[in-house]
Amino acid sequence: MTQTQGSLVRQITDYAHRADPYPLYAELRKTPVAHDEEGPYIVSTYWEIHGLLHDPRLSSDARNLDPRAAPELIEKDDEEDDEEDEPGLPPSFLRLDPPEHDRLRSLAMAPFGPPNTPRRLHTMRGELTRIVGELIDGFEGRDRIDLVDHFSYPFPVTVICRLLGVPQEDEPRFHAWADTVAAGLDPDPDADEDAAERRRVSRQVRTELAVYLSELIEERRRAPGDDMLSALVGWEGPEGRMSRVELLSTAALLLVAGHETTVNLITNGMLTLLRNPEVLARLRNDPHLVVPLVEELLRFDPPVQMLPRRTPLSEIDIAGVTIPRGASVWLLLASGNRDPQRFLDPDRFEPQRRDNQHLGFGSGVHSCFGAPLARLEAQIALTELARRLDGPRLLEDPPTYRRNAVLRGPRHLPLAFEGLR
Ligand code: HEM
Repeated sequence: MTQTQGSLVRQITDYAHRADPYPLYAELRKTPVAHDEEGPYIVSTYWEIHGLLHDPRLSSDARNLDPRAAPELIEKDDEEDDEEDEPGLPPSFLRLDPPEHDRLRSLAMAPFGPPNTPRRLHTMRGELTRIVGELIDGFEGRDRIDLVDHFSYPFPVTVICRLLGVPQEDEPRFHAWADTVAAGLDPDPDADEDAAERRRVSRQVRTELAVYLSELIEERRRAPGDDMLSALVGWEGPEGRMSRVELLSTAALLLVAGHETTVNLITNGMLTLLRNPEVLARLRNDPHLVVPLVEELLRFDPPVQMLPRRTPLSEIDIAGVTIPRGASVWLLLASGNRDPQRFLDPDRFEPQRRDNQHLGFGSGVHSCFGAPLARLEAQIALTELARRLDGPRLLEDPPTYRRNAVLRGPRHLPLAFEGLR
């Protein structure tokens, strides 16, 4: 983080709130747009967050503050601790504004968009169910597991590797890289004593990942397979095609964006179900419940708690506050999801909630690209866990959380069960 941290940021990222940040968010919502001297503008209420996510003045690419410079011509400031992008690569479309964002997003989407989406998701349903089944079979002979290490973690990485066409023997390397890159996204100022060392390792890993992906792209160019990377490499639409570096940063984005997030959705989901055993029992008897239930989880305990990196390209007046051009803005999605001005009885977990336009996948031009896949993964994972685990119970509540305040979730979720069905 380059900006000086204010005390609000310290509170929000304080590990003491990790297991239950919601009372703090309720306090913060008393001032919908809060700001202290040093820190960013913190937006915590639903309508303000929603409005800003749809406001073209609020940029995801601070380089656009300088209208004279074309994005591809700007060298990255060495001082900037920019953890998400690969060294030597242009930012992925997550970090770009329209029109460049839209061009790359639609190029990335094209091979999977209609009419291909339903077919792809249908084909994937079988594959995902098989991977989940194998992971659960692996619990045989045990009476306790760590859900994170044994299930929630390996599942999405295996899926994204298969999707991207990463050979199975390389998956363990990929898992390790994904982990390090995700840890680098944490803005917690006190995350650990040796932040410089952490950044060094993270840079090194990102370079390794870039080299690996770039070789994989070359291979797919020579010999295309039935995977997403081959489709992206070969795609040429009305918008043209992706350059080599664009392909690389898109592949790296898909890996990172779809990993830790899905791990946390599944883990937070199982935690919530085990705290609400009557809902778990209902799910076991009625698997259709899983569709609204996963939406409610994305509202109630979302894996992406906040979007900490937005910049107004011009002054924005909102909720009686003027946010100056160039300021840093943090949008607390998870707080918006608990806003009583928007949701009835927001602190209640209501698996059949009807009016549920949550912010769990963001909103506006950057809204989650992988939402259909993430939903499907979580739906299959939770349905199968509910169906197959006999008498599951939590061994630790609250569990130990990862330090990361943005991508929030338990580091371990120890469970006991009586057997497998
Ligand atoms: C964007 C959440 C899974 C790919 C986003 C954003 C959120 C989000 C909040 C908005 C970021 C912003 O506005 O700056 C989640 C959650 C997931 C999940 C909670 C799992 C439960 C996935 C998966 C993939 C993916 C599985 C890919 C396979 C992306 C991409 C973007 C994105 C590429 C950037 C979209 C853009 O900038 O246009 N996600 N995501 N996500 N997500 Fe996800």
